[in-house]
Amino acid sequence: MTRRLGRTQVGIVGGGPAGLMLSHLLHVAGIESVVIEIRSHDEIEQTPRAGILERDSVRLLVDSGVSDRVLRDGHEHQGIDLRFGGVSHRIDFQGLVGASTWLYPQTDVFLDLAAARARDGGDVRYSVVDTQIVDITTDRPGMLFSDADGVEHEIRCDVLVGADGSHSMTRSAVAGRREYFGQYPYAWFGILCEAPPSNDVLIYTRSDRGFALISQRTESVQRMYFQCSPEESVDDWSEDRIWSELQSRLAGADGFALQEGRIFSKSVLPFRSYVCEPIRHGNLFLAGDAAHTVPPTGAKGLNLALADVRVLAELLERAVLKKDDSALDTYTERALSRVWKAQYFSTWLTTLLHTLPGASDFDVRRQLAELSAVVDSEHGAAFLAESYTGWPS
Ligand code: PHB
Repeated sequence: MTRRLGRTQVGIVGGGPAGLMLSHLLHVAGIESVVIEIRSHDEIEQTPRAGILERDSVRLLVDSGVSDRVLRDGHEHQGIDLRFGGVSHRIDFQGLVGASTWLYPQTDVFLDLAAARARDGGDVRYSVVDTQIVDITTDRPGMLFSDADGVEHEIRCDVLVGADGSHSMTRSAVAGRREYFGQYPYAWFGILCEAPPSNDVLIYTRSDRGFALISQRTESVQRMYFQCSPEESVDDWSEDRIWSELQSRLAGADGFALQEGRIFSKSVLPFRSYVCEPIRHGNLFLAGDAAHTVPPTGAKGLNLALADVRVLAELLERAVLKKDDSALDTYTERALSRVWKAQYFSTWLTTLLHTLPGASDFDVRRQLAELSAVVDSEHGAAFLAESYTGWPS
């Protein structure tokens, strides 16, 4: 069988938000790319993912011309509630740092990006198999793959980008990489349910029974999570048991109660911290979850992926159009300085709100004092607000 040969400037492995956003930004800069993705468009659309966009992620979607749907269909959140000891404390992002976040699920970000690429004639190949990357330390690296009809392809490019998610296969080509891991002794039990919102903003709760997060999707669908053991089985959790657990974690003297409804999705979501360094080898560059993952508590994963590709698009533009190759040398440092800040913030917020099985009375009182130190101090609350809404780039 003959292999079809192709050529582009930037070959992108992975058609999630990082890969598609990069392809879009390169298109705006006049640089051609081809995106390959092992999943189908529908499979990506149906995977539930997180839902909070930082201020600059919203700006990037709107200002780069992807879509302004986020401004119409998304919901601006001017703060979050931190709840502990059965009392809610509003962290007023607008009042503290003049910024908001937007509730806009990753699925919608993906749909907007996929639509924008289709609208602008982008070359995105879904459902490919047997992907390989070759010759990454030469000036003509390549992507080899077969399409959904079994036809083999070889696409040669100037630069390859690995945006192939947390199970990245491109990452293994970064010779001599150093990998940093952080483990957590808990996971999240996530549900989607048919109910109206229980609050105007997200609620991050610490209770003696563990952490819970009350997030939202639409007027009639809500997303909630509660801390569980990584070994927990969804089959052990009936609807009644889930609601009673969530209600007890949220209960307090103010009489707060969640709006309940039919639960139509349940899953256990383990998490870890991971950073790969460097995130460049030869003419291969990693972006998004392929390069790093953070615990979900700070809602940073998608935002970091978008921040990576914004930097990478700018550097590629300098390298490809202005022939300034040295620009690309700064990628690892520029991207990872933000990533490490996000690691710090996400692990801090995680340990601030989750409970440990063997915690002593001292540990518990110390944790509650730390929560009070944050909400009782304008500077403490502003630190949280600034980190959550996103550091300026
Ligand atoms: C979500 O809505 O899925 C979500 C929101 C905030 C987080 C994590 C997940 O920190």
